[in-house]
Amino acid sequence: MDRLTRVPGLLYGGDWNPEQWPEEVWAEDVKLMAEAGVNLVTVGVFSWARLQPDADSWDFGWLDRLLDLVHRQGIAVDLATATASPPAWLVRAHPELLPVTADGVRLEFGSRQHYCPSSPVYRAAAVRLTRALAERYHDHPALALWHIHNEYGDHVQECFCAESAADFRRWLRDRHGTVEELNRSWGTAFWSQRYNTFDQIEPPRTAPGPVNPTQLLDWRRFCSDALLALHRAEKAVLDALSPGLPVTTNFMSMLKALDYWEWSRHEDFVSDDAYPDPADPRAHVNAALNYDLMRSLKAGRPWLLMEQAPSAVSWRPVNVPKRPELYRLWSLQALARGADGVLHFQWRASVAGAEKFHSAMLPHRGTAGRGWQRTVALGAELRRLGEIAGSRSRARVGVLLDWDSWWALELDDHPSARMRWPELLRPWYTALYERGTTVDFLPPDAAHDGYRLLLAPNLYLLDTATAERLTRYVRDGGHLVCGPFSGITDRHDHIHPGGHPGPLRALLGLVVDEHWPIPDGATTALRLGDRELHAERWSEWIETTEAETLARYTTGELAGRPAVTRRRHGSGSAWYLSCHLGPDTGRVLDLPLAEAGIGPELPGLPADVEATRRRAADGTEYLFLLNHGPADRRVPLTRPGTDLLTGTATGDALTLAPLGAAVLRLPATEERA
Ligand code: GAL
Ligand code: ZN
Repeated sequence: MDRLTRVPGLLYGGDWNPEQWPEEVWAEDVKLMAEAGVNLVTVGVFSWARLQPDADSWDFGWLDRLLDLVHRQGIAVDLATATASPPAWLVRAHPELLPVTADGVRLEFGSRQHYCPSSPVYRAAAVRLTRALAERYHDHPALALWHIHNEYGDHVQECFCAESAADFRRWLRDRHGTVEELNRSWGTAFWSQRYNTFDQIEPPRTAPGPVNPTQLLDWRRFCSDALLALHRAEKAVLDALSPGLPVTTNFMSMLKALDYWEWSRHEDFVSDDAYPDPADPRAHVNAALNYDLMRSLKAGRPWLLMEQAPSAVSWRPVNVPKRPELYRLWSLQALARGADGVLHFQWRASVAGAEKFHSAMLPHRGTAGRGWQRTVALGAELRRLGEIAGSRSRARVGVLLDWDSWWALELDDHPSARMRWPELLRPWYTALYERGTTVDFLPPDAAHDGYRLLLAPNLYLLDTATAERLTRYVRDGGHLVCGPFSGITDRHDHIHPGGHPGPLRALLGLVVDEHWPIPDGATTALRLGDRELHAERWSEWIETTEAETLARYTTGELAGRPAVTRRRHGSGSAWYLSCHLGPDTGRVLDLPLAEAGIGPELPGLPADVEATRRRAADGTEYLFLLNHGPADRRVPLTRPGTDLLTGTATGDALTLAPLGAAVLRLPATEERA
């Protein structure tokens, strides 16, 4: 089932915090929502204190009236479980539910997300509230979907209190079985770190020097699981009491703290909060990356942009607003990359509290200014695009992403602290983006068939099973490109013996003799054909065994040595980049792209224009064309279609204004079926 909710068409709306307003205001709210084409509002995200004024009383009257009012207006509700901000009465009765930092500071009440993920008191109270809401509203006709909690991992990602320590020990027992096994896994022979019993183990609190890396890695795994356990406790209540209604929680794009592959298995569909910075002229590239990830988490199924800002946010040092054209373009970009709706933080701008300067669909000035025009205009456009809801896309290039490897890569005391996953990934993604090629992200244990090319910008931690799957993929004719500092450790973060890249040596046909990180600000040159490229951050002294050398270093200690290699396996090939190439990455990726026969989504795509496709079940294609640049762009077209935004037929080219967009409906064809 690809429909996210009972609501037809694309979803449009936002967080609505009616508890911040007298009830008289609500009637105006719903009238204006209808005027703007809003069809879904998220209610109750931070309403716990209002819903449950103390341990023994509930106040649902206001929410009853609100849901009825919204329903009468024909608007659907995404009802939050309200558990992200425990009320003062609960905190004061149970101060032990407040989270504790690595150096022992208990965080105070007065903000939000102040809870220990492992606190039984907090969990019981959250489940109780969820149950009360589900029992009362599961068959309310306005209810279209459930919204669990809010942004797990926002503000608080870990807690070092005694309760968390006990939970960590339980988790370790589950994972390792015996303390001997844990000692082996953590390599506690080093620095006399041996444990006799599980009881001797504590979370990795602030310590005099470097903490055991496997302890830190297990801690990361545990913290993601501890929050997931909370989420699953609420989800179980909703599934039992409100069967058939979809449930989601809002993700935070590519967030290190949570293994979203694991998390998304427990979502009915994926939703995401995205706040690209309007002051960053390249923000749309990173937004595309995040949206591709969200689409990939459920293998191409539509997802929902749960929150974006209509204009400025309030939490950056300098909060630049969005030009109306940019707001429209960025909204369309989410749809272009698989979203079935655009929601916001928030509907009506707050007058009090920490977010009173955050933009809203209905600004402080009311309906008089440009803010309101922007809200009405986008609603009208989304109605014109309604038919794209449910359509999907599937890329031919896959990018491997593994949270375990990300966590391990960024542990301390490595050859270079500059090897950070998002920074390693970005130039690879940007290269594909600039070439007009869409990618899907893939978990390490995914089936790789169907992808002509796999990119692994980094797989620092790589178990042999995954390496074997990659080897089979290449032997079966696939093309794999692997970035540096990969295949280094196993799942315990122990070095694979026999030389790097461990289980990839045979596949790649080489061995790494020594890592050669590059100091900040310096570069090392290499020659690829008649081009000079520049490596930054990282290079390696490699020795080829069966691989051919495609590029050699030309400066520094490594001058004359291989830098980029390829080993063919029948019609498949395994490529290795032994250095970080930053903006030059695409020069190398052009070679495997050509070998795998992968071109842009649209031939002849001009600079600044993003082109993506979605495909409906009946084969109808939707071609999104987005001009992120400051100049008119003429886009050649291969087939006639209709621009859904204007209703006009298109010929063999169209011109996009600066920040302009088109969404073309193209009739079904045989190819790419
Ligand atoms: C999100 C959060 C919202 C609101 C928004 C402001 O992270 O979920 O509640 O705070 O940021 O940009
Ligand atoms: Zn805790």
